[in-house]
Amino acid sequence: MLDTIEAAPPDPILGLSAAFAADPTPAKINLGVGEYRADDGSTPVLDTVRVAEARVIESTTTKRYLPIDGTAEYGHSVRGLLFGDGEQSWCHRCATVQAPGGTGALRIAGDFVHTEFPGARIWLSEPTWANHPKVFAAAGLASKGYPYYDADSRTVDIEAMVTGLEGAVAGDVVLLHGCCHNPTGADLSIEQWQRVGDLLATRGLLPLVDFAYQGFGDGLQEDAMGLRALLDRVPEMLIASSFSKNFGLYRERVGALTAVAASEESAANVLSQLKVRVRTSFSTPPAHGSAIVSEILADPDLRSRWEKEVADMRDRINGMRALLVDKLKEYGVGGDAADFSFINRQRGMFSFSGLTPDQVDRLRRDHAVYIVGSGRINVAGITADNVDGLCRAIAAVF
Ligand code: LMR
Repeated sequence: MLDTIEAAPPDPILGLSAAFAADPTPAKINLGVGEYRADDGSTPVLDTVRVAEARVIESTTTKRYLPIDGTAEYGHSVRGLLFGDGEQSWCHRCATVQAPGGTGALRIAGDFVHTEFPGARIWLSEPTWANHPKVFAAAGLASKGYPYYDADSRTVDIEAMVTGLEGAVAGDVVLLHGCCHNPTGADLSIEQWQRVGDLLATRGLLPLVDFAYQGFGDGLQEDAMGLRALLDRVPEMLIASSFSKNFGLYRERVGALTAVAASEESAANVLSQLKVRVRTSFSTPPAHGSAIVSEILADPDLRSRWEKEVADMRDRINGMRALLVDKLKEYGVGGDAADFSFINRQRGMFSFSGLTPDQVDRLRRDHAVYIVGSGRINVAGITADNVDGLCRAIAAVF
């Protein structure tokens, strides 16, 4: 049987990391996968993670299974980051299950929707994270696209988005990026979140918020404002949290799926079904990364040091945005009239550069510069050492 299997194409994002690793070019530059890099090009373990990890190892007395939905402390930590400090008075309407990374949370959400609401479709922004359609297809969900990004103004086209979503029918699910839209870096304003919330509520559509970059846009609280504005308008939602980026815990696979239901009883029912989805896919969650997150968030001193680490990462990324804009001009990319200031307005790790697939190919083939095929550049991977090489290469393919 296995003789009949054809090779799958490489993953459009993680496949780049493998190709980059195999590239012998000394001055190669990897701006593909969304991993934060410090000034020296490394992706360090956060200091607070090191402290918390030592405490977790020290205090661990068993490797027994965690509960199917993870620990209560972790669920509390997740909801605190989403909705604000402390357990919210209405959180009895919430159900949180720990998941292996944000992707694991999205897959559990997809499995849950497909099982409980057969025929529901999931609406994805155009463009969206390259893995979104595949995760939901693997869960058996049909996906549809809604217009999101206007390439001319490089902002959200809210009118087209609202019109597009009018094609959704009650019971469909709409995926929204909580902040730092991947790949465009163009986010909804609060007024636009409210408008979308009204539309979803009126039409009976269930939002699924992918929240993978909290703290990388404008701040930990600021980045949750859209989600919280939405919550004022819709009775129910699903939220996929990821702590890969803001805790730098990429390989530990730390995430969660939170459902907000209309009542305590519904939340309990939803939780029981989410636990079935977990049990039948990965059984119970891994303990290590989630214990680190809980430890940091529960200790006031570690928490404030972590908030500073997140702010430092965000500031460095924004500094690299400004440097990239200046250097593109210095290298004459696009001529004197070219204006790359839009890069400074984009939020999060990525810049949707507007480079064409052909230019992306030439960057890789001729200059060993790796960016995602959509033209997405990981700004968090730019450093003072590689920015000149990057801009010289872009100038050469432009
Ligand atoms: C990305 O978009 O680069 C990240 O979310 C990492 C991934 O898994 O693709």
